[in-house]
Amino acid sequence: LLQLFPATIHRRAPLPSTVPWRAPAREIRDSPRFSWRGAMLDVVRHFAPPRDIRRFIDLLAMHRLNTLHLHLTDDQGWRIEIARYPKLTEVGSWRPESQVGAAPESDGDGRPHGGFYTKDDLREIVAYASARGITVVPEIELPGHAQAAVAAYPELGVGDAAPETPWTRWGINPVIFNVEESTIAFLADVLDEVIDIFPSEYICIGGDECPKVQWRDDPRTQERMRELGVEEEEELQSWFIGRIAAHLASRGRKLLGWDEILEGGLVDDASVLSWRGQIGALVAARAGHDVIACPVDSVYLDYRESDMPGEPIPVGTVTTVETAYGFDPVPPELNATEARHVRGGQANLWTEHIDSSRAIDYHVFPRLCAVSEALWTRGDRDFREFEPRLVEHLARLDAAGVEYRHPDGPRPWQSRPGVVGRPSSMEDAVAHLERITANIG
Ligand code: ACM
Repeated sequence: LLQLFPATIHRRAPLPSTVPWRAPAREIRDSPRFSWRGAMLDVVRHFAPPRDIRRFIDLLAMHRLNTLHLHLTDDQGWRIEIARYPKLTEVGSWRPESQVGAAPESDGDGRPHGGFYTKDDLREIVAYASARGITVVPEIELPGHAQAAVAAYPELGVGDAAPETPWTRWGINPVIFNVEESTIAFLADVLDEVIDIFPSEYICIGGDECPKVQWRDDPRTQERMRELGVEEEEELQSWFIGRIAAHLASRGRKLLGWDEILEGGLVDDASVLSWRGQIGALVAARAGHDVIACPVDSVYLDYRESDMPGEPIPVGTVTTVETAYGFDPVPPELNATEARHVRGGQANLWTEHIDSSRAIDYHVFPRLCAVSEALWTRGDRDFREFEPRLVEHLARLDAAGVEYRHPDGPRPWQSRPGVVGRPSSMEDAVAHLERITANIG
């Protein structure tokens, strides 16, 4: 209904309009194609204060999205207050500095970064989202992406060389949780407090990018594998996820994990965030598991929108508005019965190089407008028909104060010249994806 009125209606205090505020008399019959229409925000790599999250929720609601996936823990920080384990935020929510850019040899900025949400902050966010038709899905990463937790409580780590602080670099980190009963119990306690805050049916437990080097090289972990009758480290990850899934089930919640949870065997009732292309969606849906599609080649909004020189620090491949608009969560190989397991999709925003709400706006808009339509519309979509409607919609974003990427390209203040990125060509990216998904199934 708001879209039928002049764009000024999207201001906090609408201005007097030179055109009458009339909406045409219409009957609208409409409903979304997918029940999961979401966006993931990484609040670890850069902390977003609660007011920025509430604003992000407003913008999701404006685009008829209904799911906010909050990535709350990772190597570089722990962002949720847990009463039983205060050091998670005392130690784990601050890192001494942050890597500048994506080159492995790049310097740190010499400036501490951190922050965390109190339980009340998160309850407020959940209530604010709920009033706008949005479910907040929390993510607690395990068994990898665990350095901030291990820095806070070294007994959770493998061996006895725990890092003293959260990680100050970007990339994949070897520090992972150990597989002791005490660590499973710790994670169950943490998840109980998470469940208490978030009413979401799904709890995301991460599961991605977990190098098994520490497990492989650690005599105690190898002994534990023999105790458990587990032969491969991949299978040990499945055992770990299975224990967590059982705990979530005992609390009436469902486990959601990135598509690496397919490797080593998918636990019963787990649902999959298919990010490494569509292969995870295909394999999981065929095995009867629910799927949320968020493929890296179309809906990773931290990727640059063009190869123009002023774009912010480049990571991954170019992802245009047209690429995002072409997103279809259902792999074409699925038959109708299998396709019913695809509950929808989401765009993901990783924030290694995105340190403010202004930078979030630039990366997210207008591509999220395209993703939103892709997740809503049944039947054919035509980008040429979408384009002029998007131009009209930019006036609404202007009124709402969104610093989107202008179709002409980045403004001078939106770039970070001289900072080295990690761009890849589509050919390199495809070859990389084929390598890293080789053992999904
Ligand atoms: C991911 O992008 N590592 C899920």
